[in-house]
Amino acid sequence: MSAPVLVRNLAKAFYDEGRGEIKAVDSISFECHEGEIFGLLGANGAGKTTTLRMLSTILAPTSGTATIMGHDVVHDPEGVRKNLGFYSATTALYPRLTTRETIEFFARINQYPSKRVPERVEYLIHRFGLEKYADARIEKLSSGMKQKVSVARTVAHDPAILIFDEPTVGLDVLNALDVQETIGELRAEGKTIIFSTHIMSEAERLCDRIAIIHGGQILATDTLAGLREITGQHYLEDIFVLFVKAGQETV
Ligand SMILES: Nc1ncnc2c1ncn2[C@@H]1O[C@H](COP(=O)(O)OP(=O)(O)OP(=O)(O)O)[C@@H](O)[C@H]1O
Ligand SMILES: [Mg+2]
Repeated sequence: MSAPVLVRNLAKAFYDEGRGEIKAVDSISFECHEGEIFGLLGANGAGKTTTLRMLSTILAPTSGTATIMGHDVVHDPEGVRKNLGFYSATTALYPRLTTRETIEFFARINQYPSKRVPERVEYLIHRFGLEKYADARIEKLSSGMKQKVSVARTVAHDPAILIFDEPTVGLDVLNALDVQETIGELRAEGKTIIFSTHIMSEAERLCDRIAIIHGGQILATDTLAGLREITGQHYLEDIFVLFVKAGQETV
């Protein structure tokens, strides 16, 4: 079987009146191995969100291909969505639904087997410690609790692949650690995870392999140990800067 996530020469260009053509993602290729956390590490505007939106079928690629569990993002978007959970700090929840209704809604629209939905919902309420808030409307929850509901909503249909686009942006240190811990647990449960961040320590702590993305291009993909070996640098921050500077020199 091929890799759970396979990306080949994926590109997205935008046209902006002021800026002209923007190559937000400029022919990137990578694959994720089963059960790993694959990090996309890049600064603001590097192309992380655009890449992840293409993988989750929100945005159509300009060129190139990507498959999620063998389903092509262009030709089989339903197959992709069934196998994928997408989380970002800006993903909205419906304020008037309760926690329970939210999880149930997302399990159903992403085609979790209908008969097993109630059991799945109760499992997730318990799994994320949401018992006390199960029947509260989302608008009444604290941001930390909303965070947990958002993660529960992302995994509601039990997809094999999970994408987290800068999930800790705007969180305090405890909530950020909590999210990181949850992502680690999801890997232990066998999920394949793509995680984007601009925070070096997060990438160091969580990722099995790291792709450094800059100007819409992937400059390097390796384990932290591998990146250290190639560059002779120890700290990911120094490794990152080295690649970005080398990338700029070749432009
Ligand atoms: N809808 C759009 N129209 C025009 N340009 C866009 C659009 N979406 C993204 N871009 C541009 O594409 C580039 C990549 O943006 P993207 O949001 O993918 O980066 P990012 O790595 O997620 O950055 P950040 O860390 O700030 O979230 C940027 O130059 C951005 O301005
Ligand atoms: Mg982004």
